[in-house]
Amino acid sequence: MKGHGPAYIRNTVAIVSGKGGVGKSTLSVMLAASLAERGYRIGLLDVDLHGPSMPVMLGMEGMRLSRDDHGIIPLQRGNLKAVSIGFMLEHTDDALIWRGPLKHQIICEFLTEVQWGPLDCLIIDVPPGTGDEPLTVMQMCNDLDGVFVVTTPQRASAVDVRRCVTFCRKLKVPILGLIENMHGIACPSCGEVFQVFPEGEGRRVSQEMHIDMLGSIPIDPALASSCDCGYCMSKGSSSYDAMKTIADQAAFIILEHKEEQHENSRTAH
Ligand SMILES: Nc1ncnc2c1ncn2[C@@H]1O[C@H](COP(=O)(O)OP(=O)(O)OP(=O)(O)O)[C@@H](O)[C@H]1O
Ligand SMILES: [Mg+2]
Repeated sequence: MKGHGPAYIRNTVAIVSGKGGVGKSTLSVMLAASLAERGYRIGLLDVDLHGPSMPVMLGMEGMRLSRDDHGIIPLQRGNLKAVSIGFMLEHTDDALIWRGPLKHQIICEFLTEVQWGPLDCLIIDVPPGTGDEPLTVMQMCNDLDGVFVVTTPQRASAVDVRRCVTFCRKLKVPILGLIENMHGIACPSCGEVFQVFPEGEGRRVSQEMHIDMLGSIPIDPALASSCDCGYCMSKGSSSYDAMKTIADQAAFIILEHKEEQHENSRTAH
């Protein structure tokens, strides 16, 4: 494989949810940015072919991917490299009108033909559901270490998330943790937290399906506007600390813990 595989990419994780609009892309970008800020070399692969979010969320609208004889050259910002179909469309308003086989082909190309160079972690932003795109990622990405699952506190989200967990388990993909997004909103004047959705479904999914809960992120207007103009997370905003805690845990699970396991297995032999 060109520019891919264990020699180049230490860890690969995907961000999934059976449900659309729960914050998968937001969390993929925030996690990638947070890990890149800590000095890790991070790749961000957007396999949402019909609604690619990365150009807007990374503040890279209008930028285009190039390729040479060795494959696709990702766009780069600091320690973060990114690939998305959104960087290949001629105009922002262009829509990709493709059926399954073509989608399978381009995702396989993204998984094998990108010149990432050495990465500490590749984060894959996967579109909702249990159809073509998630299936291709889980079947074709041999190096996938596991997935983080995103839900909102609502039952309407949790029922789809449970299906997604079943889907991952059937495909023998480890579930590394659950993140609950849009958990309440703080009143800008008095700070009191209001619950927008009925509470508790995230916790219930975590307990009943035996998945570690990494944390909850509140609805935060500052986060919403940062998604619209690039990912600069405003320090001090209500989502910042929550995201930092989640990134700490994710870093431990996908980077440090795995390194420890490698070290232990090396010393055991
Ligand atoms: N905690 C939050 N506070 C405020 N806005 C948020 C939060 N999380 C996500 N959003 C906003 O909600 C919208 C949907 O988020 P996002 O695109 O990340 O969801 P998604 O799960 O990737 O959606 P899709 O299923 O369409 O890929 C975005 O406009 C984003 O800015
Ligand atoms: Mg998305």
